[in-house]
Parts: sequence; C-alpha cells; structure tokens
Amino acid sequence: MPKSLDASEAHIPPFLETAISAAKQAGTLLLDYASKGFRIEHKSTINLVTEADHAAEQCVIDVIRSTYPHHRFLAEERGRIDHDSSPYLWIIDPLDGTTNFAHGYPAYCVSIGLELNEQPVLGVVYDPSRDELFSATRGGGARVNDQPLCVSHTAQLDQALLVTGFAYDIRETPNNNLDHFARFALRTQGLRRTGSAALDLCYVAAGRFDGFWEVKLSPWDMAAGVVIVQEAGGTVTNLSGGSHSLYGEELVASNGLLHTSMISVLQEE
Ligand code: IPD
Ligand code: CA
Ligand code: CA
Repeated sequence: MPKSLDASEAHIPPFLETAISAAKQAGTLLLDYASKGFRIEHKSTINLVTEADHAAEQCVIDVIRSTYPHHRFLAEERGRIDHDSSPYLWIIDPLDGTTNFAHGYPAYCVSIGLELNEQPVLGVVYDPSRDELFSATRGGGARVNDQPLCVSHTAQLDQALLVTGFAYDIRETPNNNLDHFARFALRTQGLRRTGSAALDLCYVAAGRFDGFWEVKLSPWDMAAGVVIVQEAGGTVTNLSGGSHSLYGEELVASNGLLHTSMISVLQEE
C-alpha cells in the first residue's frame, strides 16, 4: 500500500470485519477466564496484569496478522511490533478495565484502533459482559451492534452526567486529576469513574455520558474510542481545547455542546 494514501482514499470497511472478529474472539476468551479463574501479577502497587490480558492480546494480534501480515502493531502488553514500513498501525488494548476484571466487576472490554499514516481511521470496542460491539470507521458513522450511535443533547453542565478516570500513579504525582474531579463534582448532575476509558468513550458516543476527560491515558486506551465519539457527532480535544493526539496523554470528549464549559472548568487554577 503506497505511503501517500489517506483515510478518504483507503477502503477501510474490510478492516472493520477483521477487527470485529478479533475483538469478539478476544472478548470470548476474557469471559472464559472470568469464569475459570486466572493468574494476576503486579506491574506496580495498584497496576495489575492478568494472564487474560496476555491471552486476549495474542488472540487479537493473531487474528489481524493472519489477514494483514505486513501491518504494524502497538499493543499494551507487547509494545510495538514493526515488520516493515506499512502505513497501517493497529493499536490494541486487549483488556481495558483490568482492575474491574480482576475483581469480577463486569465493566471491561477489548479495544482495537487502526491508524493510517498516523490518523485514527477505525475503532472497535467489544464489551463481552453485555455483548455490546461499538464500531466506527472514518466517514462511515458509528454503531453499537447494528444501531447508529449519536451523542446526547445536554447543553448545561448542571444537567450533565460526566465520567473520568485516574492513572495508576495517582499516589505519586500531584497531576492526579483529583482537583478536576472535585470541581466537576460540584457543578454536574453526576460524576462517574467506571474504570474503563475505552468504554467511557463509547458511552459518550452513545449519549449515556455527556462528557469524559482524563489526564494520563495511553494510545491504546483512546485509539478506538476517539473515532467512535467523533463519528457519533462528538468532539475530542486535549485539555486546553486544542487538537487531540493519541500520543499526548490527555483527552476531553463530549457531545460538543458541553465542550467549552468542560474546558473552562479544566483550565481553572
Ligand atoms: C485503565 C482504564 C481506566 C483508566 C486508566 C487506564 P487498563 O486501563 O482505562 O479507566 O482510568 O487510566 O490505564 O489498565 O484497565 O487497561
Ligand atoms: Ca487501558
Ligand atoms: Ca489494558
């Protein structure tokens, strides 16, 4: 595939079929582990990884590679796998919501994004506990299972249900999001912390949440969900309202109507 292709020229839908198949197979694996039990290791004091994370990641890579052997991968547990200079990069979080999974709390998912020449062009997020498959392709709209997705119409912060999350270094750094959390708690109708950033983004796309922000995310937490929110009519920026980068850690996603109010609260000293 020549390097000059951009998202509008590339034919993205065939990739979607492969991504959906990979996400569903990995999701089924996660449910198997959830019922059978699994080994847990600590990456740091509160950052866990289970054997299910590794198995789901291998499953996603194997499924995609069997169809696209020359594409590149960035996967949470394995890091980068570069075979050649393909313009396609699959960005994989095999289990987003590991802490929930380890506790038997059914809020976790498989997240698969695809970048073409550094632009996110496809997202698939599968929640195996609810059998909900969120998907989007650039310019092709967003869906949950077969239903089109659309963000909410809430325009006032005090009528909004927002969601956020906290990074694993919450105990070690002052940039731990607790200041923003405290401010939004007093100005919104409700504030949630679900423990799965990829699902939080999908829920913004579905209008179940009106907005989401987080200050220290990784590319695999955001790659799929960003396309899903944008294709559902939502807005995604960094914390200052500027353009969002998968490699910039911070993210604000909203229905668009609340975006300026959210950025104002986030910018308060
Ligand atoms: C975490 C979840 C959580 C978010 C953390 C992420 P993991 O991912 O998405 O909601 O607050 O920042 O690291 O470790 O469960 O894949
Ligand atoms: Ca994650
Ligand atoms: Ca993960």
